Amino acid sequence: MKTLYTLSVFFLTLVVASQLPAQEARIKIDPDRVVGEISPLIYGNFVEHLGRCVYGGIYDPGSPLADEDGFRKDVMEAVRDLNISIIRYPGGNFVSNYHWLDGVGPDRIPRMELAWNRLETNEFGTNEFIKFVRKVGAEPFFAVNMGTGTMVEARRWVEYTNVASGPHYAELRKEHGYPEPHDIKFWSLGNEMDGGWQMGHLNAEDYTKKARETAKLMKLTDRDIKIIGSGSSNYGSDANPNQWNQTVVDVLHQYIDYLALHLYLGNPDNDYYGFMSTPMVMEQRTDIARGLIQRTMEETGRDQPIYIAWDEWNVWYRATGAAATQGDRALEEHYNLEDALVVAGMLNVFIRNADIVKMANMAQLVNVIAPIFTNDTSLFKQTIYYPFQMFSSHMVGKSLDVFLEVDTYETGQFRMNAWAEPENQKDVPYLDVTAALDEDQIVIAVVNRHRDQSIQTSVLCQECTFEGDIQILELTGPDIKSSNTFGKEDVQTKELSPLSNSGNQVEYSFPPHSLTLLIGKVHSR
Ligand code: AHR
Repeated sequence: MKTLYTLSVFFLTLVVASQLPAQEARIKIDPDRVVGEISPLIYGNFVEHLGRCVYGGIYDPGSPLADEDGFRKDVMEAVRDLNISIIRYPGGNFVSNYHWLDGVGPDRIPRMELAWNRLETNEFGTNEFIKFVRKVGAEPFFAVNMGTGTMVEARRWVEYTNVASGPHYAELRKEHGYPEPHDIKFWSLGNEMDGGWQMGHLNAEDYTKKARETAKLMKLTDRDIKIIGSGSSNYGSDANPNQWNQTVVDVLHQYIDYLALHLYLGNPDNDYYGFMSTPMVMEQRTDIARGLIQRTMEETGRDQPIYIAWDEWNVWYRATGAAATQGDRALEEHYNLEDALVVAGMLNVFIRNADIVKMANMAQLVNVIAPIFTNDTSLFKQTIYYPFQMFSSHMVGKSLDVFLEVDTYETGQFRMNAWAEPENQKDVPYLDVTAALDEDQIVIAVVNRHRDQSIQTSVLCQECTFEGDIQILELTGPDIKSSNTFGKEDVQTKELSPLSNSGNQVEYSFPPHSLTLLIGKVHSR
């Protein structure tokens, strides 16, 4: 019955989509209509001890491609080109049974790794990660073990990394060859503690009690750290996500600076238009979390903001199930163009909600659901590498509130506008648009979700004029299923001939299934 329903929705979607007329759209932007500052920390990433992310990914001391510290030089170069601001470590599900002392100093203790079923040699640990993260120019963000770990163990880790000298663990770091503290500013209170799959899973009351006392001890050790509370994961847990999030912000409001949310999107039914709408789920969850945070702040009188950190996000639906999630080749997802467009849609959600989404970490960095994929001798950049790079290089400064008029479509998968009359409930706009203003540079990011048609669009700058050429960066490919592999990257960013335009209006036709950045200078009128 369920299959029949899914199939009929799928065919209905195809019929609706294929009968659409030629498309036109209008975009209006105004430099005075600012949503918020775009935090550089939304261009974060994540390294977990999982599959070939650490061993055979960033760290491969036996490889001719490795540097003196065992880091793959080609990987570091590709990471630097992504402009990653912050990297979360060491998990993920892994962290819930990770004991950091196993991975420091001369004697490393091999352990059974229970989350992803591997042998963890602990050859790579705190200090190796810090070296790596500094080499690629990013900030470290650590998660503590709130599953099988204790509050004392978490506190000692802060002492080891952040206290200059004196107490035992600060001195231990020095003995290990690191005279200066690592100054790790961002710390998360566990990972996906709402999920039954998590080692040491707790209910909301028990988690928040333990997390509050852990945070207290960590802050007493270093008052300057920023704390991230473990919010709802993939909405597939046994806990009600909104109740979980409300409890986390209520009980931890004195300690946390961010509420962490996780989301993975996918296309298991091969429904292109449905898949293209899925970033709207992220938008809706952002709205709901914003409301829950506002409620707590109002009720408790807290005046410092609690932000949202989407500290795991990506497309992930192929490498699932027992065989693909265990051992040394776990979670090796191979991405295509439609995945890259969904990634662009998720980045657009962060930009549109720049006032509250102040951190985001794509999961993960190398090989494991990742933009970079290696073998022993080389690497290639997956399709999802490119939208991330386009955004992290150009979508900076202030996020602007964009007016958009464009046709919409129905998917049967998603309804945003529950208040509309039934005939107007085609909720997914064919274009997904954000704009960023950095001094006099304006960048407009446009995803055309239409599979087959270009959308002729007029872009009007209100209260301003465009000055000089408009640079055009485009990401598309021969087909929505196009993908990249070693030595052959069909999907990558292309720079097109610039538009030479002045005045306050630009006409542009956004090609089907594409991401475009229009980059220009504006002058206020
Ligand atoms: O990123 C892969 C896994 O997804 C992480 O370990 C976990 O936090 C999430 O469920």
